[in-house]
Amino acid sequence: MIFDTHAHYDDEQFDIDREELLSSMKDAGISRIVDVGASIATTKKALELAHRYDFMYAAVGVHPSEVEELNDSSIELLKNLSMDEKCVAIGEIGLDYHWPEPSPELQKVWFKEQLGLARERNLPVIIHSRDAAFDTVEIMREEHAEDIGGVVHCFSYSREVARQCLDMGFYIGVGGVLTFKNARKLVEVVEDTPMDRILLETDCPYLAPEPYRGKRNSSLYLPYVVQKMAELKGITTEEVIRITEENARKMYRL
Ligand code: NI
Repeated sequence: MIFDTHAHYDDEQFDIDREELLSSMKDAGISRIVDVGASIATTKKALELAHRYDFMYAAVGVHPSEVEELNDSSIELLKNLSMDEKCVAIGEIGLDYHWPEPSPELQKVWFKEQLGLARERNLPVIIHSRDAAFDTVEIMREEHAEDIGGVVHCFSYSREVARQCLDMGFYIGVGGVLTFKNARKLVEVVEDTPMDRILLETDCPYLAPEPYRGKRNSSLYLPYVVQKMAELKGITTEEVIRITEENARKMYRL
């Protein structure tokens, strides 16, 4: 069954039908979902969801665009939240230079700090990186991220950057973007990346695959990504589902 390694069902876009939607997952062939925190507040919501549904798990972390809320006491709080039995990763953490704020310097400080938390807690990391390939890889190297492990989620860089991440033992997270008409770069990355290093993810409510591009995304649309990946890799959809589920269970140690 399909493992959605990165979702945000805590998002308010799911307020109207969250329970109904999540209750339909198992029958629709979705075996497990990791709900990923992006701030202290959404981390708490992710943990709540993980406790309500046996097939859901949580990642604890603060997104680079939200790091202004971090300080000594909130990082301590994150650490305590990461002790939860349903916390399977630290994330999403990283660098996002798409917007001018928060400053790259501040983002780097808290990226490193949260990598340190993952190391201390012996948990994999979920890395968010946008328009910041060079600094991301540099920090991963400096901090010896190869000892920590994890995924570069919603991978948006070239095959060269993908190889650098793969060399450090990281997984490549792939979602709805793969089905977009302008997905040439990601298609190349998927063609280049061994099947045993790819994870399926939605990043829902964002990044719905074709033919739902622009609409609210959910794990129920992952079969469209599976189909495209099967075509690119020349294997069956069943194989894509089986291998990516194995990869996810291995990374999250489930
Ligand atoms: Ni996300």
